[in-house]
Amino acid sequence: MRSARSATPNAWRGSSNRWSALALCAALLPAVVLAQPVRIGVIAPFSGPFADYGQQFDVGIKAFQKIHGDSVAGRKVEIIRRDTGGPLPEVAKRLAQELVVRGNVDVLAGFGLTPEALAVADVATQAKKPMVIFNAATSVITTKSPYIVRTSMTLPQVSAPLGTWAARNGIKRVVTLVADYGPGADAEAAFKKTFAAGGGQVIEALRTPLQNPDFGPYVQRVKDAKPDAVFIFVPSGEQSIAVMKAYGERALAQAGIKAIGTGDVTDDHVLAAVGETALGMITTGHYSAAHDSPGNRAFLQAVAEVAPRSGRPNFMAVGAYDGMAAIYESIRRSAPGAIDADAAMTVLKTFKTMSPRGPIAIDPDTRDIVQDIYVRRVEKKGNELWNVEFDRIERVKDPGKER
Ligand code: PHB
Repeated sequence: MRSARSATPNAWRGSSNRWSALALCAALLPAVVLAQPVRIGVIAPFSGPFADYGQQFDVGIKAFQKIHGDSVAGRKVEIIRRDTGGPLPEVAKRLAQELVVRGNVDVLAGFGLTPEALAVADVATQAKKPMVIFNAATSVITTKSPYIVRTSMTLPQVSAPLGTWAARNGIKRVVTLVADYGPGADAEAAFKKTFAAGGGQVIEALRTPLQNPDFGPYVQRVKDAKPDAVFIFVPSGEQSIAVMKAYGERALAQAGIKAIGTGDVTDDHVLAAVGETALGMITTGHYSAAHDSPGNRAFLQAVAEVAPRSGRPNFMAVGAYDGMAAIYESIRRSAPGAIDADAAMTVLKTFKTMSPRGPIAIDPDTRDIVQDIYVRRVEKKGNELWNVEFDRIERVKDPGKER
């Protein structure tokens, strides 16, 4: 091995002052780099009709930092929030470019809606930045960049088990009602496949607009088709409230048509506003605030402390909480200094933890999440509605990758 001195350029030889200045700089460098914060750029809607998504991410991030601290491996973790204002892919892309070029972020994270995540995938690839998806749930997203990893769910992952459950539980004819974009198409296809495999029949497939849908006429068409049940996926929040309001107003339950759906429809954060129309509704999902475990109790306690007026946290807060856990683990296992994206991806791709929802792992082949999916029923306990888990399918991979 060459000694440091023999590698010293001629101009420096004989100048012991300069040499010691250089040595001093070299010795100080790791400390300086170590002192640099790790910067995480969180891109999500923080305003507009999907503002809850950004707020839920915030709740999850703050709860995580309350329990695990706001620094890791001696480095402060700085969160830089950027508001897309809705499912606006061009805005999401511009914000991501600004964050990597001027904001000097180490990691891109967030992404409430599929169009935002898809628009940023190329930026992550070109800039070589890990991109951690806290919610956006169309199956294909993780295939769009080798730097993407997802800590939320995919729509096929939650919808396929419901098709199986429905066929086994006396439901024979179903109308599907889904939002007309990636996650809706995924939910519709995955439900239909397992429901048909169990002997069920989808008699009509309806799709509603992503922006400002008026559910009344669609729900009337469901009623006119006289199925045993309607399978629903809408992006959670305001649309969960609106679709269930239409279901109640058009008296589908009285006509003998059950509502079943993905956990998005009985989103914990808005379940009280959805109200008693949802009582008895069966959904499949990856997180319920009613999940009984020490990890979930600690999570809910931390949320109550950091965001006492934010209402009940939902699956998006948990997606962000676990996304932060994955990012912290990649920082902890990084060499000191600037985060190397490829090294970070090696850690992110094999991440495993006990989440507030139960055990989760990232599948290294797809960079998508593997987790238990729960069958739940909306029940009233005390004066409140809860998604009460009564069955569990273990370690479900994204079936969307198998098509
Ligand atoms: C998505 O756009 O991927 C999305 C949004 C809201 C949900 C689920 C998926 O509740």
